[in-house]
Amino acid sequence: MASTVAFSFHDLGPDRGSFLEDVLAGLASERKVLQPKYFYDEAGCALFEAICELPEYYPTRTETAMMREFGAEIARELGAGCALIEYGSGSGRKTRILIDVLAPVAYLPIDIAAAQLRAAAAAMAGAYPGLAVCAVCADYCRPLVLPEMNGVNAARRVVYFPGSTIGNLTPDEAGAFLENARVVAGAGGAMLVGVDLKKDPARLVAAYDDAQGVTARFNLNLLARINRELGADFDLAGFRHEARYDAAHGRIEMHLVAGRDQRVSIAGREFDFRAGETIHTENSYKYSVAEFQALARAAGFAPARCWTDAGELFAVHLLHVPG
Ligand SMILES: C[S@@+](CC[C@H](N)C(=O)[O-])C[C@H]1O[C@@H](n2cnc3c(N)ncnc32)[C@H](O)[C@@H]1O
Repeated sequence: MASTVAFSFHDLGPDRGSFLEDVLAGLASERKVLQPKYFYDEAGCALFEAICELPEYYPTRTETAMMREFGAEIARELGAGCALIEYGSGSGRKTRILIDVLAPVAYLPIDIAAAQLRAAAAAMAGAYPGLAVCAVCADYCRPLVLPEMNGVNAARRVVYFPGSTIGNLTPDEAGAFLENARVVAGAGGAMLVGVDLKKDPARLVAAYDDAQGVTARFNLNLLARINRELGADFDLAGFRHEARYDAAHGRIEMHLVAGRDQRVSIAGREFDFRAGETIHTENSYKYSVAEFQALARAAGFAPARCWTDAGELFAVHLLHVPG
């Protein structure tokens, strides 16, 4: 008898309406800024997948190898039969390594990129018969009510947040995000987070400014998306990608730098750029193990274990929610 595929998709319309508002507000601010969550339209998702394959981009390769090496140990710590809730699930490729060893009863991927989420979650449901897959298209920085998973009896909730995506939030935002995640996991639940470690700034900058220019295309695609979806007239040749390390904040910053004075119009509003002026498009904070554990403790978690790779590039933290 064919097995039933339990799959549902819940579209909470995360960026409907707010994209234009956020772009106008960000470009009107004294230091122009755009939010990184808007990178991920269809082209942006494909470019991010290409970044993951780049020789300079060590985080994906390192975290993937760590999940292969430590997955069984992590699964023993988490226990069988959990509901796995993944924030920023993307293509879900790394998640399969965890699912193979963890054998959860339910999987709830949450992502802002609707098309990629739907495809990845449907593929997951097809690959794991018996796993209830409930995809939620939402902005995880907003208050989130997860859909009921009727009929699924999970032993506990485990929140999974790989990819060092937590580094895109400021430490204050990350603290608030962790507090929400703790509430979602609930008493007796757990969280598994992939966090990029502090290291040689030259290695960090190379990871965000690769020789093939894929990260530059990823960054510039944000302007292309604004042109496509909001009818703006950015001249992409008028901007260049820049990645810099800010040691004081312990973060990589990505910027789009105006090559000349120019004026851009978006939905009837005009924005002037001076040559050399930048749009700050992303932060990627790096944390030592102790720094991240302190952040987690302040959010009410009890740090339980931390795995690092031999090169001390990346950390995977296991946090418990006190019961
Ligand atoms: C850096 S990628 C990581 C993807 C995958 N987890 C990995 O480790 O390779 C970030 C993912 O988070 C999603 N994302 C970014 N900001 C988000 C937000 N505010 N709410 C929901 N998803 C978001 C993006 O669409 C993307 O799939």
